[in-house]
Amino acid sequence: MDNALKLDTVRLSEDRKSLVILDQTLLPRNIKYLSLVKREEIWEAIYKLRVRGAPAIGCAAAYGLYILASGYAGDDVDGFVEYVKGEKDYLNSSRPTAVNLSWALNRLWTCLVANKDKLSVKELKDLLGKDADSIYQEDVAISRSIGSYGFELLHHGDGILTHCNAGTLATAKYGTALAPIYIALEHGWNDLKVYCDETRPLLQGARLSAFEMQSAGVYTTLLCDNMASITMKRGKINIVFVGADRVAANGDFANKIGTSGVAILAKHYGIPFYCCAPTTTIDMATATGDDIPIEERKPEEVTEMWYKERMAPDGVHVDNPAFDVTDHTLVTGIITEKGIAYPPFDKAFKRMGIK
Ligand code: MRU
Repeated sequence: MDNALKLDTVRLSEDRKSLVILDQTLLPRNIKYLSLVKREEIWEAIYKLRVRGAPAIGCAAAYGLYILASGYAGDDVDGFVEYVKGEKDYLNSSRPTAVNLSWALNRLWTCLVANKDKLSVKELKDLLGKDADSIYQEDVAISRSIGSYGFELLHHGDGILTHCNAGTLATAKYGTALAPIYIALEHGWNDLKVYCDETRPLLQGARLSAFEMQSAGVYTTLLCDNMASITMKRGKINIVFVGADRVAANGDFANKIGTSGVAILAKHYGIPFYCCAPTTTIDMATATGDDIPIEERKPEEVTEMWYKERMAPDGVHVDNPAFDVTDHTLVTGIITEKGIAYPPFDKAFKRMGIK
């Protein structure tokens, strides 16, 4: 099995005419890349989680907007700007919780507006492409930095619990919550043990994190979500690393459904619980976790997906919130590329210059 680090989660094609993504819905069995050009294809790829994980969604949206902008036929700048605004809003409607989506789209939009009176349509298109490239390259560096800070918290032989997938597949490279483990491997550490919650209902832990860690040669154990408690009680977990889709100004954060339960368990068992997030995921405009929009998804993901036949009675009510909010009081620290923020988080974010 190839090391997952060798896979490109998201990139532009060589001729820069299409968005290429690894279709994560097919992992771990099939490694298949999709080449996307049309607005509906790009929107669908984000909505269906073919490309997923907050930073990777941001990169896909930035490259996606560049591809759509490149398809504009005229040379009238005002028409171009209006067209790009429509495409930006359309892509932004694909998923609500991960702030990196709107962050990346707004970054390109701001760049466009700032330069629209100085440049031609052709030059503006090139500028958007360069900015999308920068978002991608910056994300690689950011993830490595998060990995280095997280690595400093680890000890030889540690058991690390993670939830969902915040690894290389969720970012441009390396990941956030799994980045410290990649850095540890670079230092020759071969004695860490990673426990992956399977992460119902879409199984990002089983299909993606377990695949990533195993392919990198890490001792990997898969747990059903409801096994985290006994695993902690048995003393197998020394530290918890999870990712985030949006961190509020007070340190509350949204991450994959089930994360807040893991945090409550970690507090009960006295296990350090860290959220690993780039500053692009910290949304100072969102005051608390109550203000984070939570994506609700289709009931079939709970009742039918992965099963040979439907496993719940017809007509039963199903709730399927895709994310939950972990209260900041449960969080030991938030590992960013600028260092580790400790409570009180609002003050720590300000000290780090996060706006
Ligand atoms: O629905 P998903 O798979 O996009 O959810 C992903 C997560 O919750 C990740 O933990 C989060 O985006 C952080 S990725 C570095």
